[in-house]
Amino acid sequence: MWICMEPQQLLKFQPDPSSGIYNKNEKKAASFRRWLLWIPIVIFASFLYIFDIGGEMHYRFPLPSNITAITVKPVHSVRSGFVVDTTGCRIPDLDPYDPVIHEFIKKEKPLNCHEKHPLLVNANLTSLFIMKSALPFFNISDEDQLNCCYQPFWRSKTHSGDDNFDSKITFADNCTSFKNDVSVEEEFVKVMCSVDNQVVYKNYHAFIPIKLEVEKLCQESRKNKPSQNTEHLSVLVLGMDAVSRLNFHRQMPKTESLLRKIHAIELFGYNKVADNTFPNLIPILSGLSEKELQHTCWPKLTSVFDRCNWIWKNFSAAGYRTAFGEDAAWMGLFSYVKRGFKEQPTDYYVRPFIKTAEDDIGHKTQLNAKLCIGSKMSVAVLLDYVSNFAITMSSKDTFAFFWGTSLTHDFLNYPSLGDDLHERFLNQLLHTGSLNHTVFIFMSDHGIRWGGIRETYQGRLEERLPFVFFVFPEWFKNLYPTAIANLHKNAHRLTTPFDIYETLLDILSFKQIEKESIRKRSTELDKGKSKPRQISLFLPVHKSRTCNEAGIDPHWCTCHKSKPLPLTDAKIKNMSLILVEHLNSLLKPYGVCSQLHLAEVKSATVEYPLEHLYEKTKDQGLKDYVLVVRTTPGDALFEATVRHHIGNSSVQVVGAVSRINTYGSQSSCVTDFHMKLYCYCKSYFRTRTKL
Ligand SMILES: *[C@@H]1O[C@H](CO)[C@@H](O)[C@H](O)[C@H]1NC(C)=O
Ligand SMILES: *[C@@H]1O[C@H](CO)[C@@H](O)[C@H](O)[C@H]1NC(C)=O
Ligand SMILES: *[C@@H]1O[C@H](CO)[C@@H](O)[C@H](O)[C@H]1NC(C)=O
Ligand SMILES: *[C@@H]1O[C@H](CO)[C@@H](O)[C@H](O)[C@H]1NC(C)=O
Ligand SMILES: *[C@@H]1O[C@H](CO)[C@@H](O)[C@H](O)[C@H]1NC(C)=O
Ligand SMILES: *[C@@H]1O[C@H](CO)[C@@H](O)[C@H](O)[C@H]1NC(C)=O
Ligand SMILES: *[C@@H]1O[C@H](CO)[C@@H](O)[C@H](O)[C@H]1NC(C)=O
Ligand SMILES: *[C@@H]1O[C@H](CO)[C@@H](O)[C@H](O)[C@H]1NC(C)=O
Repeated sequence: MWICMEPQQLLKFQPDPSSGIYNKNEKKAASFRRWLLWIPIVIFASFLYIFDIGGEMHYRFPLPSNITAITVKPVHSVRSGFVVDTTGCRIPDLDPYDPVIHEFIKKEKPLNCHEKHPLLVNANLTSLFIMKSALPFFNISDEDQLNCCYQPFWRSKTHSGDDNFDSKITFADNCTSFKNDVSVEEEFVKVMCSVDNQVVYKNYHAFIPIKLEVEKLCQESRKNKPSQNTEHLSVLVLGMDAVSRLNFHRQMPKTESLLRKIHAIELFGYNKVADNTFPNLIPILSGLSEKELQHTCWPKLTSVFDRCNWIWKNFSAAGYRTAFGEDAAWMGLFSYVKRGFKEQPTDYYVRPFIKTAEDDIGHKTQLNAKLCIGSKMSVAVLLDYVSNFAITMSSKDTFAFFWGTSLTHDFLNYPSLGDDLHERFLNQLLHTGSLNHTVFIFMSDHGIRWGGIRETYQGRLEERLPFVFFVFPEWFKNLYPTAIANLHKNAHRLTTPFDIYETLLDILSFKQIEKESIRKRSTELDKGKSKPRQISLFLPVHKSRTCNEAGIDPHWCTCHKSKPLPLTDAKIKNMSLILVEHLNSLLKPYGVCSQLHLAEVKSATVEYPLEHLYEKTKDQGLKDYVLVVRTTPGDALFEATVRHHIGNSSVQVVGAVSRINTYGSQSSCVTDFHMKLYCYCKSYFRTRTKL
């Protein structure tokens, strides 16, 4: 185990500073680097201590009796107590099961969409087929009694007078009859089955036909752009509306565990830039804020969105097939009190299908959304489309953006009802090799925006911090290690939807993310006096980044403010004593170690939230005191975060305590590496005094 090596050996593992991902100013004396190197090692070691070395790196939170035990991965923190810990921004690491929010977390009953009737006609990638097993439910003993047909439909191509462009569909004249099964060439079909001329069943199905005119355009675009990448990466974005990062971890442990298994990269400091879905997705799809979009291409609420430079147009121009789709279509991204598109915006466009199906056979309406379409969950209908798309297109270049809203838009505890579905969906993509040549981005736009949890300090932070995961194919990670290393670092930086846009643009041109280019672009970023609002996540996002720089409205900013405190502050002495007491309680079982005493407070800062995050809930705010203390015997330097919960006046050390100077052989009497950080051996003291 490398963590047991001596510091000199560890120096060999120092990353190559020339790779462009490290700050140029780091060309300081080697001894200083050696000193710096200790910090992450010690932090990592103390981290292992907290999460129990050798264990599965899982830990359990105390759970409300009501929910089944869920293991959550340790929220990998830069410094204990924070998920982002930079000069420009500190975001506290919160407990997904904090007692304050227990009362809002509960287990929901599974949704039953097939209570009315089971699926009578099902579909695979190419065909419709009758489910014989469902016949008894419909009281059909003789198959010949049953007449099923499918009727194609499509987004209306001509608009006469009526300007409801994005919601009009046209049905084919005929409904084509079939027995057993039938292969379907069309994109969207309505299925109807009748017995004695009575319609007993209807449903809607979508297929993914290869469109010849689209293929031709893609080929032409490729030809016109000779300097293309030889390798290509497709983009598949799948969103879940209104799920905070912590709520994702609480509610979707199976999906989370699968993502972890396949080494998905999670963004811990992804902060929304504005209130609701529209202004948080527009930046991803256009690189613009809502206001800028209005100035550029969407002058009035009644204007259509056709003129805007959506990122799918760039992918289309580079020879990619494009797709866009969402459920709960009536409140779609471009349709909720908006007019959508006059011309179909992407090559594959789900809206005509889902809107028609939801309007006709959607049910289980709760608040805003119909949770079921026919005998399936609405989100399952969307996911089926997405996986059919990904499987069909697995060897073609595609840019696809899908957003699931129906299940999670309104209820804090509903994401758990989609855990199995999403896990199965992702497993299917993996097993079919559909992600071999695709970056899969799984994300949300914000946390839940209403309900009791929003009245708590934690709920306010969660609302502003949605989840984002990136899954890259292995070959891509191997070809562009510098870009990926930067993405890993940025996981603990302040990041936004604008950055996702820049990242997607980089995927269009791999030249941009080769080692040399990254080095050049990083240097430019570094030198620039004013930093750009949006930065590709393949580049190092600077540590001094603030919400203001990143285009995050102050009201949505989760960064805590930081202020150095005078060491004479009476609170500091108290907090430091609590820290030393905490260390002594850790040492207590080890009789061979001395108890420690506070010798000196070396530095202290306080991190506190912006006022609007805790106004009216002042009792729930928290202040984090980051202390460096020296203890005797042994002159150890410890750094730790002591958290003050204003509500119940509790003060406690959060996360691991870091040892930030060397301990030499002071701790040779203990073998646990993690205890070596804290222990000053009584025997060491004796040998020293004998000398
Ligand atoms: C969960 O806990 C709440 C509050 O303690 C209680 O009202 C509810 O009945 C419990 N639900 C179940 C399924 O046990
Ligand atoms: C005080 O409140 C915080 C936040 O809810 C909680 O984590 C902590 O356990 C509480 N401490 C005490 C002593 O009740
Ligand atoms: C789809 O179903 C049809 C009819 O049952 C079958 O012939 C075909 O092989 C199936 N296709 C796939 C891809 O499973
Ligand atoms: C099937 O027949 C039973 C008994 O006559 C009746 O209660 C039920 O509603 C019928 N089901 C359908 C789908 O017609
Ligand atoms: C629709 O039905 C009419 C009359 O039965 C028939 O002449 C025509 O060929 C059918 N069209 C298609 C597309 O099947
Ligand atoms: C993306 O396409 C728009 C036109 O739709 C163009 O103006 C813009 O420069 C393109 N951006 C990149 C990075 O290629
Ligand atoms: C995807 O990659 C895996 C592992 O490299 C390989 O075994 C599989 O055949 C690939 N599948 C497709 C559809 O390319
Ligand atoms: C320090 O702690 C003691 C007891 O724990 C308390 O009585 C005192 O008020 C604290 N002082 C400050 C300044 O917080």
